[in-house]
Amino acid sequence: MPQKALITGITGQTGSFLAQHLLQLGHEVHGTSRSLTNEPWRLVHLGIRERVTLHELNAIVPGRIAEIAAQGYDYIFHLAAESSVANSLKHPTDTVTANVVQTTAWLEAVKNQSPDCRFFNAVTSEVLAATGDPLDEDSRRSATNPYAVTKLASMNMALVFRDSFDLYIVNGLLFNHESELRDTRFVTAKIIYNLCLLAKEPSAPPFELGNVLAERDFSHAEDFARGIAASLQAETPRDYIFASGALRTVKEFFDTAATLLGFQPEWSGDGTDMVCQDSLTGRVLVTINPAFYRPVDEPGKAGNAKRACTHLNWEPNIAFEALLRRMITFQMSRLE
Ligand code: GDD
Repeated sequence: MPQKALITGITGQTGSFLAQHLLQLGHEVHGTSRSLTNEPWRLVHLGIRERVTLHELNAIVPGRIAEIAAQGYDYIFHLAAESSVANSLKHPTDTVTANVVQTTAWLEAVKNQSPDCRFFNAVTSEVLAATGDPLDEDSRRSATNPYAVTKLASMNMALVFRDSFDLYIVNGLLFNHESELRDTRFVTAKIIYNLCLLAKEPSAPPFELGNVLAERDFSHAEDFARGIAASLQAETPRDYIFASGALRTVKEFFDTAATLLGFQPEWSGDGTDMVCQDSLTGRVLVTINPAFYRPVDEPGKAGNAKRACTHLNWEPNIAFEALLRRMITFQMSRLE
């Protein structure tokens, strides 16, 4: 029997891939969007805009959230959030509203309007403390920026609702997930966009990055969409890590992308004096601007997704280089 799913934040990167996956599974897919007049370009790109129903939710008003939650969903996937660490440092109060107040309003709405609905809450590797070892669901919690603080609070709130009201709630601890649908506020899309511009236009100036020695565990968001959907199918609700398990620096991401685009990246200097040139031409590709540094950028964290592999039969399909190739192909076609 077709089931009815709601995705908050359906027009974002992961929401769009999740909508595509749920449609492939035969579900009826709805989503919330801040505005119905802006074109949801990711849904259009995936060719599914006409197959999903959008509900406007332009302010965090508990009454409106309760009204939407009362529409008989089997699943709610709560992805809508302020998801940029950099933005959360600039707008901490708005981040609390977007990530803590909003999540709480959805949890309360599910409890009151549709307690049989299964609820997925998107959390982040940012709530885990770096230890040097791959991190799992039991790893120690820590939060070193407003985004992480709010996601940790939303996760704890979800656990309180799960334990106190016997609701089916899952927290997904998502490590970095990227794709051709990523916004350039995030470093991978910024790198791909600017490198493609440099490859297309010989006169394009170099661009700036922050801490290129920062390490992240990168995956493709499409892989996570499958895991997120599967996480609400287990008999008992549990929390799951989604990650590739491999740590790479931002510099490594940059170097791989630059090489795929035909450059020969060569770095010189240290710290904020680092510069990358194309050794084939001497052209400067990137310089460092301390304005993009974070006050606290923790040591790299890799994730251990063993629980998702064992209990959900989940594993990532898209390798690191394939992720970069997809991002490059998409961006080059957009610049045509
Ligand atoms: N955004 C950005 N811009 N980051 C830069 C830049 C730059 O110019 N230069 C270096 N970086 C470094 C940041 O300091 C950070 O260490 C790393 O690149 C990744 O930054 P982001 O792409 O902004 O992502 P994030 O890791 O902070 O957060 C993403 O992943 C989390 C999961 O681990 C987001 O998707 C979060 O929503 C998500 O929870």
